[in-house]
Amino acid sequence: MVGDGSRMDNSAEGLKLAIRRWLWEEIPERRVLDLYCGKDGRMWEGIWRDAESYLGCDKFRPHNHTTTLKMSAERAVQSLDLDSWTIFDIDPYASPWVVGRRILLKRGAGTYGLALTSGEERGLKNGSSNEIIRRSIGASGLSDYRLLLHYRDLVFGLMLRSLADIPGITLKKGVKVTGAGPSKMLYFAMVIESERNGKASPCLPQRVSGRALGRLAKKRKNLLARKG
Ligand SMILES: C[S@@+](CC[C@H](N)C(=O)[O-])C[C@H]1O[C@@H](n2cnc3c(N)ncnc32)[C@H](O)[C@@H]1O
Repeated sequence: MVGDGSRMDNSAEGLKLAIRRWLWEEIPERRVLDLYCGKDGRMWEGIWRDAESYLGCDKFRPHNHTTTLKMSAERAVQSLDLDSWTIFDIDPYASPWVVGRRILLKRGAGTYGLALTSGEERGLKNGSSNEIIRRSIGASGLSDYRLLLHYRDLVFGLMLRSLADIPGITLKKGVKVTGAGPSKMLYFAMVIESERNGKASPCLPQRVSGRALGRLAKKRKNLLARKG
C-alpha cells in the first residue's frame, strides 16, 4: 500500500492491527479518533469499523469509508473536543510525540488509549527528532549537545545495555552513585555473570593501539634478555 509514492503506508499492517486489537480489549467503550487515517483507511477496515464511534482525519487524503475530515492531526487535536474519544490512533510517517503529548495535555480525566507509530529512524536521520524532543520537553533553547546531556541518565542506561547485550553476559546487579560536583559524574559498580569462553568475538573487538603494541614488544624483549 503506497502513500505518497515513496512511503509504505502499512508495511507492518499486521503488527499495527495487533497492537490495536490489544487496545480494543483494554478499552471497553471504543470511540476512535484516527488522526492519520490514510486514503485507504486500513485501520478502519481492519478494526475500527466495529467501534462504537469513529472519526478519521488526514492532512492529505482521508479515506471515504465513513465520516472523515481533511485536516491535519495537529489541527484536529487543537480544535476537536478530545474528551469525546477513548482511543487515539496516531499513525504518522515519522514522529507521533508532538501530537501524542498534546492529547495527553488536553484530554480530560478518564481511561483512554493511544496507538502510536514511531518512525524515529527518519527523524534521527534528518535531524528533525531533536527539535521534536526539544518541543516536547519545552526546552527550545537547548543545543543538540546540551540535549544529549539532558538525557545523560538514559544515555548511561543505553551504554550499560550495550554491555548486557554482549552474548553470554548477564549484568547481575549494580550500584550507581552520582558525584556531588558540578559535573555530576556517575560512578557505577556491577556484578557480571559471564558464560563466554573468553575468546575475542566479532561483537567485542579487541582494539590495541600502536603505542600499546610497542610497549608489549619492549616488555617481551626485556624478558627475553633477562632469560637469556
Ligand atoms: C502511515 S499513513 C496512515 C495509514 C492509515 N493509518 C491507514 O490505516 O491506512 C500516514 C498518513 O498520514 C497522513 N499525514 C501526513 N501528515 C499528516 C498530518 N500532519 N496530519 C494528518 N495526517 C497526516 C498521510 O496523508 C498518510 O495518509
